[in-house]
Amino acid sequence: MEKLTNANAWAELEKLAPLIKRKHMRDMFEQDDTRAQRYSLEIGGIFLDYSKNRVTDEVLTQLFSLATQRGLKEKIAAMFSGDAINTTEDRAVLHTALRNFSKKSVYVGGHDVMPEVKTTLDKVEAFTTSVHSGAHKGYTGKSIDTIVSIGIGGSFLGPKIVTESLKPYQRDNIKVHFVANVDGCHIHDVLATVDVETTLFVMSSKSFSTQETLQNTLTAKDWFLSKNTSQADIAKHFVAVSSNVKAAVEFGMAKENVFPMADWVGGRYSLWSAIGLPISLALGFEHFKAILEGAFEMDEHFQSAPFEENMPVILAMLGVWYRNFMGAQSHALLPYYHYLRGFPAYVQQLDMESNGKSTTLNGLTVDYGTGPIIWGSEGTNGQHSFYQLIHQSNLPIPVDFLFPTTVPNQNTTHHNMLASNCFGQAQALMQGKTFEECLQDLQNSGLSQEEKQVLANHKTMPGNNPSNTLVFNQLDPKTLGALIALYEHKVLVQGCIWGLNSFDQWGVELGKVLGNQVLDMIEGNTELSSADSSTQQLIERFTN
Ligand code: F6P
Repeated sequence: MEKLTNANAWAELEKLAPLIKRKHMRDMFEQDDTRAQRYSLEIGGIFLDYSKNRVTDEVLTQLFSLATQRGLKEKIAAMFSGDAINTTEDRAVLHTALRNFSKKSVYVGGHDVMPEVKTTLDKVEAFTTSVHSGAHKGYTGKSIDTIVSIGIGGSFLGPKIVTESLKPYQRDNIKVHFVANVDGCHIHDVLATVDVETTLFVMSSKSFSTQETLQNTLTAKDWFLSKNTSQADIAKHFVAVSSNVKAAVEFGMAKENVFPMADWVGGRYSLWSAIGLPISLALGFEHFKAILEGAFEMDEHFQSAPFEENMPVILAMLGVWYRNFMGAQSHALLPYYHYLRGFPAYVQQLDMESNGKSTTLNGLTVDYGTGPIIWGSEGTNGQHSFYQLIHQSNLPIPVDFLFPTTVPNQNTTHHNMLASNCFGQAQALMQGKTFEECLQDLQNSGLSQEEKQVLANHKTMPGNNPSNTLVFNQLDPKTLGALIALYEHKVLVQGCIWGLNSFDQWGVELGKVLGNQVLDMIEGNTELSSADSSTQQLIERFTN
């Protein structure tokens, strides 16, 4: 594939960028009263208004040409058809097969994976039903009413954020805890609150070799066995989700309690697999299935819609525009919905672990920007914190606002205020406030002309800050599934433009290896001398 910066559309976009930098969105809106309507679309219960972006029709045309020139159509087809697009690990990338309700087969190495997808989903359903009905009993014959889900990274964030985001759909009779960190404070606190007779531990680890997850599970197991229980009782209280069934069984899990997953499911794309078991247990299988259906709808849209009407492609290419042509280094997600407060952290892992890379598929080092820093938090809280920087610093930060128009059991006054904050902030970021307007406000302030000018300078809001606004009627399971798939596909598109493999994560490996070496030094199994002097000093300080 030719170098990104040699693409024709890249050169066109480079020419357009300085022209657009001189334009203000305020004027774009004034000159075109169809702008909002033209730059909006709806799919899978998600309405996207992308009119508050620093783009023109010409810019969008070139962005979509760039996508074509980078082989996006072929890349999408390759992913959905099971090609080994994760080249460094020689693996297919098929999280989409886990939510494939099309009845079409999906082949990996000539083998249709759909029957095994269905078998595992049926197993998740059957187990969920047996827990909810009380058929699955703890060692003293009581029903399960508490789930402790242990995992980390993709084996944790998806289930946690989905369960949290769908709080209005959670079952009354099941409490769920998620433990990830190896910091013993967390598992200790959770174990202190749960009842050994009615608690089920779900251990989720694709590799079954992740330090944090193994240790937290061992701690949970030791705690369980310290409660007058026997080894045989473990089968009633511990289940595992893993692609390494052998290791799970060797660890002590009963074989029938291990939910398999395939190696073609990437960790940060795995909530759709049996990794979603805690979601099914917390919400009910019907809601888990609805999440998959919502994602499937987005998958269908992504594969078939022309780029200019394709929501993931539009979001991704706007991101490319800001990252590569308008100087942005980060992208903020601002949910105006308390239950969706964890979504920025979820997308942070999804996006930054996927596209936080600077080596292309050809093994070359890039000389252009790649994955941005993804960050953000609950909308109104952020307004009293970091929004100041977005409004008035000279760092360009594109943002996504996320807002549900209705919320179950919501007080209208609160929700009206929430909406007004969300829409009002998007408006303020776009239009800003001119120096002249600020000066006018100070007319009767009693200040001298010079003082007025200085103060007006401080109060001036440049505006022209881009944002997308994503509005859903209600964040129900289906809409959440579509929303997550939307961001997954955005990542694929951007990875394709930048020529990256979005599906490996070699950057996390070195830290794991060195961490294990340091542990050996801390535990006295290895000499300190092999470490640098700073690391030696820190270990000595810790151990003495
Ligand atoms: O952070 C690295 C990573 O490999 C993620 O990709 C993965 O989701 C996480 O660790 C946990 O891995 P596992 O599911 O194998 O325990």
